[in-house]
Amino acid sequence: MGCCKCCCVVLVVAVLIVAGSMGLFTAFFPYPSHASCQVDWVFGKDCNTVKNRLIHQMKLWSSDQCSAKQQCRYEYLGEEGDTIRGLHTTPIMSYVDKLNFTLTDGSGDTCQVKAFSESTASYAVIDFGVNYCNLRNLVIGSRLDENDAKYKENSTNAVCTMYSIAHCNLYTE
Ligand SMILES: *[C@@H]1O[C@H](CO)[C@@H](O)[C@H](O)[C@H]1NC(C)=O
Ligand SMILES: *[C@@H]1O[C@H](CO)[C@@H](O)[C@H](O)[C@H]1NC(C)=O
Repeated sequence: MGCCKCCCVVLVVAVLIVAGSMGLFTAFFPYPSHASCQVDWVFGKDCNTVKNRLIHQMKLWSSDQCSAKQQCRYEYLGEEGDTIRGLHTTPIMSYVDKLNFTLTDGSGDTCQVKAFSESTASYAVIDFGVNYCNLRNLVIGSRLDENDAKYKENSTNAVCTMYSIAHCNLYTE
């Protein structure tokens, strides 16, 4: 085999390997490139009620006593316009995640909420659903999801790390 032909074969194989692994990468890694989560919620309540319950829950779970799974180490940072902010530190690894909820009054007595949680560790990619659960636990802990016919939650793996496989387990253990 001539040198040129050999180089050609190597190049084609290399291109195939790179293309193949990129395909595999998106197939097996459908999540954001940095551990984070965006979730949208709709509640059949006015935004003041929703806001007060979320703030109350963060304060209630601000303790360092982490015996009850992740229901601890939240920190309420305050509100600014329609946005409330907080932090959550994961009990074991002590990663700090930033949270925010932006609340907008919707039609028919609803409150539309855009919630974000993002790891402050720049290298964090996989979070085992922690960013999602940071947000979701506040919603279920404050019982905002109960007895509400207009309640809706939506997100996808593309904007929320491990959304489809996260188990927040708040009341199951
Ligand atoms: C909420 O947090 C996300 C992710 O950290 C950020 O992109 C967004 O700008 C924040 N929203 C507000 C209103 O601060
Ligand atoms: C929720 O659904 C709406 C409407 O389909 C969409 O625009 C929005 O991006 C979704 N939110 C998330 C976090 O996926």
